[in-house]
Amino acid sequence: MEKSAIHLHSKIQVGTVDPRIFGGFLEHMGRAVYQGVYDPESKHADEDGCRKDVLEALERLKMTVVRYPGGNFVSGYHWEDGVGPRENRPTVRDLAWNSIETNMFGTDEFIQLCRKMNWSPMMSINLGTGTPEEGRNWVEYCNGQKGTKYADMRIDNGNSDPFDVKLWCLGNEMDAEWQLGHVPAREYAIRAQQASKLMKDFDRSLEMVVCGSCNVDLPTYMTWDREVLEYVASYADYISAHRYVGNENDDTADFLAVTNSIDKQIEETEAVCRYAQAKNKLWKRTAICFDEWNVWYRTHDVDGNQQIAPHLIEEVYNLEDALVAAGFLNSFIRHADTVKIANIAQIVNIIAPLLTKGDGLLIQSIFYPFEMMSRRRNGVSLRFAVEGPEYASPSYGKVNTIDVSTILSENELQLFTTNRSLDKTAEIHVNLADREIVSLSNAEILTGPDAKASNSFEKPDVVISQPFDSVTINKGKAIYEMPPLSFAAVSLKLK
Ligand code: AHR
Repeated sequence: MEKSAIHLHSKIQVGTVDPRIFGGFLEHMGRAVYQGVYDPESKHADEDGCRKDVLEALERLKMTVVRYPGGNFVSGYHWEDGVGPRENRPTVRDLAWNSIETNMFGTDEFIQLCRKMNWSPMMSINLGTGTPEEGRNWVEYCNGQKGTKYADMRIDNGNSDPFDVKLWCLGNEMDAEWQLGHVPAREYAIRAQQASKLMKDFDRSLEMVVCGSCNVDLPTYMTWDREVLEYVASYADYISAHRYVGNENDDTADFLAVTNSIDKQIEETEAVCRYAQAKNKLWKRTAICFDEWNVWYRTHDVDGNQQIAPHLIEEVYNLEDALVAAGFLNSFIRHADTVKIANIAQIVNIIAPLLTKGDGLLIQSIFYPFEMMSRRRNGVSLRFAVEGPEYASPSYGKVNTIDVSTILSENELQLFTTNRSLDKTAEIHVNLADREIVSLSNAEILTGPDAKASNSFEKPDVVISQPFDSVTINKGKAIYEMPPLSFAAVSLKLK
């Protein structure tokens, strides 16, 4: 048994946790849309052709914002192909994934889905092969009032009420050479400024996300962000960050320490935002939108061979991946003052917490930390000190054996802790210096038989969350024990 103590004070805060860090991402890629959320042929289809079983599972994640329609897909997408009567919509080649796009699902269907699910839409415009004006026209289609061309097009398509889409991404991963229409930073910044101005001129209340670095290993990492923000900071409410991680070396302890490098990426991006704020003499600082994150390293099948809804990157997740997913969310909470939006990539079939097979649905391990944290997300993130064992990881340096984030609301304290030890139980002591912990509200724990354990259609319950009640309260402090390789979400009542 190894003891760790978490020291907190209710007045020592990072900032309010933005509920939008519990966001998702739906791309026209592989089987995410077709055979994922939308499958009129399925026995689970509702009146709009959406899969009820998939939507019911997604409801449990209480996602706030959902990004659509890409991803790399968006850099070749023309939104007008996906609106109007279905029989008039063109079938086109999608060059991002070498697939065939039927356009049977488009803007109106996505908004309908958002309304059904209580998601805020977050749309990406095409700044690869598209134009700033095409983006502006999409804003009018979505948000315009009756009486002008694109707003009337939406009304003719059966939607009299505006969609009220407030959050717009100005392209996707434009720093990457694999992106359709990729250009150097300066050129992208000019496109982004033009698009942002046109779109904000149409509707002042819009918020814009500019493309930041999409990969910490690209040679332009952070110089891209600096050049873009130097030019466009006053038009950029957010800058995007993307991160996919993996256990390529098959070293679980090392993999679990990747949280250090997620913290580092956020802090480096924030440093550039601060620099650009100073350089541009702005009161408002661009915040971070971490709009793609996940574990992704096993599957590299990104060629759709000109098929409709091909099987692409359908990663199967295990326990260690779920602990890393918890680590991403812990890191976002620890940086609540600067990370305002984050989107798990993606929501179904493509590197996702859910997998469909025919009419079957599998809930993967990474689903659970998201669910456990999302239902406990309200409040402010507290700073903390951890006293306890540490270890040195070969790739990411020294980490505490337990990974932590905390959220305080009026009368409740949420603790999110991961025991990264491969073989030792952790005894966690929670000390909120200025407030008394009086009782356990509820708690859940996620663990499994070993780091590589995963759920399957045959055995869906190997890595699932369980109620956790072995929390004791003594003299205003809480103590609980976590098995090796586990993640706990503990809600404590305060006096
Ligand atoms: O999420 C899959 C792909 O990963 C996205 O389309 C792209 O933005 C990223 O490279």
